[in-house]
Amino acid sequence: MTADLFEAVPNVRPSREAMAEGAVLLRGFARSFEAELLAALRTIVKQAPFRHLVTPSGHRMSVAMTNCGSVGWVSDDAGYRYDAIDPESGQKWPVMPAVLSRLAADAASAAGFNGFAPEACLINRYVPGAKLSLHQDKDELDFAAPIVSVSLGLPAVFLFGGLKRADKTARRRLEHGDVVVWGGPSRLFFHGVAPLADGEHAVMGRQRINLTFRKAR
Ligand code: SIN
Ligand code: FE2
Repeated sequence: MTADLFEAVPNVRPSREAMAEGAVLLRGFARSFEAELLAALRTIVKQAPFRHLVTPSGHRMSVAMTNCGSVGWVSDDAGYRYDAIDPESGQKWPVMPAVLSRLAADAASAAGFNGFAPEACLINRYVPGAKLSLHQDKDELDFAAPIVSVSLGLPAVFLFGGLKRADKTARRRLEHGDVVVWGGPSRLFFHGVAPLADGEHAVMGRQRINLTFRKAR
């Protein structure tokens, strides 16, 4: 009975999915921002192109990164940190466009975190095969603010665990326009992205772009 009902309306799916206490997946939340968001991204990437960072242990990351905002997340042999200067150009990171701040604040509010004003947006680019190992976002000074993560392009499998690296991870498929917000009790939960499967996205082509907004300091 229930199955028939859903089959009759194939596009009906919950617009929000609880992932853990403080963590929610807002399906399609970024879709209404798409045109403005993509135009803003093109401008940012011209000014601060994607590059592959090297971890302190000397590993070249498969995900290519850039940033916008008053500080950006960087990694090199000295460690992980937020820096106001793009080390590639020696210039400040591109200013965070208003559409990005608005999307981040609106998504945070929808998840129950009001007044989110991130100064950093890390932009990750995945091509097929690229992955992000399990990690915590803990280079920020303020863990009271959530992380807001926007997915664009090819679908990815997002791994979301717990406070310990060994905790069991739930797997969620993140698609174009989906937004995940995690804060409060899950702010420091381990998370990562499984190797990206090959494909061609109608809007973004053969890639996935992820934006994570952080209150860095
Ligand atoms: C991140 O953890 O910084 C990125 C997560 C993602 O790409 O979905
Ligand atoms: Fe992260």
